[in-house]
Amino acid sequence: MDKIVIEGGRPLRGKIKVSGSKNAALPILAATLLTKGKSEIRNLPGLADVHTMGKLLKDLGLKIQLWGSKMKVHANGYQRHIAAYELVKTMRASVLVLGPLVARLGKAKVSLPGGCAIGARPIQLHLKGLEAMGAKIKVEHGYVEAEAKRLHGATIHFDTVTVTGTENLMMAATLAEGTTVLENAAREPEITDLANFLNAMGAKVRGAGTSTITIEGVEQLQGGTYSVMPDRIEAGTFLIAACLPGSQVLLQGIPYEYVEALSLKLQDCGAKVEVKKDGIQLSAPKKLKPVDISTAPYPGFATDLQAQFMALMTVAEGTSVIRENIFENRFMHVGELIRMGAEIQLEGNSAVIRGVKALSGAPIMATDLRASASLVIAGLAAQGITEINRVYHIDRGYEKIEKKFRKLGARVKRVKVRY
Ligand code: EPZ
Repeated sequence: MDKIVIEGGRPLRGKIKVSGSKNAALPILAATLLTKGKSEIRNLPGLADVHTMGKLLKDLGLKIQLWGSKMKVHANGYQRHIAAYELVKTMRASVLVLGPLVARLGKAKVSLPGGCAIGARPIQLHLKGLEAMGAKIKVEHGYVEAEAKRLHGATIHFDTVTVTGTENLMMAATLAEGTTVLENAAREPEITDLANFLNAMGAKVRGAGTSTITIEGVEQLQGGTYSVMPDRIEAGTFLIAACLPGSQVLLQGIPYEYVEALSLKLQDCGAKVEVKKDGIQLSAPKKLKPVDISTAPYPGFATDLQAQFMALMTVAEGTSVIRENIFENRFMHVGELIRMGAEIQLEGNSAVIRGVKALSGAPIMATDLRASASLVIAGLAAQGITEINRVYHIDRGYEKIEKKFRKLGARVKRVKVRY
C-alpha cells in the first residue's frame, strides 16, 4: 500500500487539465452492455474504478481493449449475466450493470453492493423501478436477481433523488416496450452525458438534466463512439485547494456551470473566480472568510465536495457550519482533521468548524475517496509533514493527484510502503 507525503505551506500556482469524469465514465461503460455492436469510449480517466468496470465487462464476456484514455468495447453476443461479489465489493458502481443486463439479456444476477464508509447505500429505488417495468426481482444470499422477458415502459417517481438509480432505469428503459417517464430524476451533468451516449447509440432519451426524463423504448441499439465529460469533482477539489494562501490556479477544460455552486461559495470566502476562454481561474483570498454550506443534489452544493470544503474551513478566520444532507455518515475525515489541530464539533448531520491559525502536519489515515482528497488539502495547508496512509482510496477517483499538485508547486510525493 502506498502513502502520500506532503510538506505543507506552499502556494499552488499554474495550470491543470481536468481529467475525464469518473461518475460519467462508469455508467457510460455499463451502457455498452445494451448493444451487440462495437463502442469506443474516449477521455476516460486513468482510475482504479475505470479498470474495475473494464474487468467487470470482460468477466461478462465482452471484448475490451483499454489503452491510455480510450476503451474499445465489443459486446458481440455475450451471454453471461452474473456480476460476481469479488468485483462488485470493490466498486459499488458495479450496480450500474443491473439495468442494462435485464434490458439486453432479460436476466441479471448482481451481487448487492453492500454499504461503504459513507453510508448504507441501499438500492431499493433501483429495484422498485425495475419491478414497475415488469422485472421479477429476488434478493437472496447477497445477490439481487432480476428477470423479464421484455421490460415495458412505466412512469416511475423517485422518493429520493438517486444518481445511479436514475442512470440504471434510464438505461433499462432504452430497450423496453413503450415509453418510460422518470420523475424526480437526478439532474447531475453525468446523467446528461450518459443520455448523450445512449442517444448516440440510437436510443430516444429526452429531458436528461431536468427532473423529468422520458425514454421511448427501441428494438435495439448499435455501438457508439463517445468522449466523456470532464470531472467536475476533480475540478472542484483543485478550486478549493487553490484558496490556500498565495495560490492562483487555472483549471483547463471545465465549463463554469459544472462548478457554479462551489464557485459562488468560494467567492463568499473571498476568492476571485474568473471564467477564462480555456477554463476557470481561481485566485486565493488574502483573508479566508468562513462560509456555511449545505449539500444537495445538483445543481446544489455537491456532497462529493463537502469533505474538501471542510478541510479549507478549518483554517478560515471564523466559524462555519457544514450540513451533510445526502449521506448519513460522510464525516469520516473529521477525526483525522482534528488530529491535525482542527477544531470541529459534530451535531447530527452538521459539523461546526472553528477556524484555527494553522493545522500541523501528522500521520493520518484515508477512509474513503473524498475524505482522502480532504486530507490532501489539509496536508497542503498544514505546517510540517503530513503522511496519508491507504491512498488506494484516492486512486479510485483522482488520476495521478500527487503529480498534478506537484505541477502546481506543492511538495507532494508518493512513497511505497512495504509491509
Ligand atoms: C452517486 O452515488 C455518485 N457515484 C456518488 O459519488 C455521489 O456521492 C452520489 O451519487 C450523490 O451525488 C457515482 O455516480 C458512481 P445516490 P449513488 O443514489 O448513485 C439514497 C464519489 O465520491 N438512496 O444519488 O450511489 C442514498 O443512500 C461517489 O464519486 C436510497 O435511499 O448515490 C443516499 O443517501 C461517492 N435508495 C441518497 O439516496 C436508493 O435506492 C443519494 O444516493 C438509492 C439511493
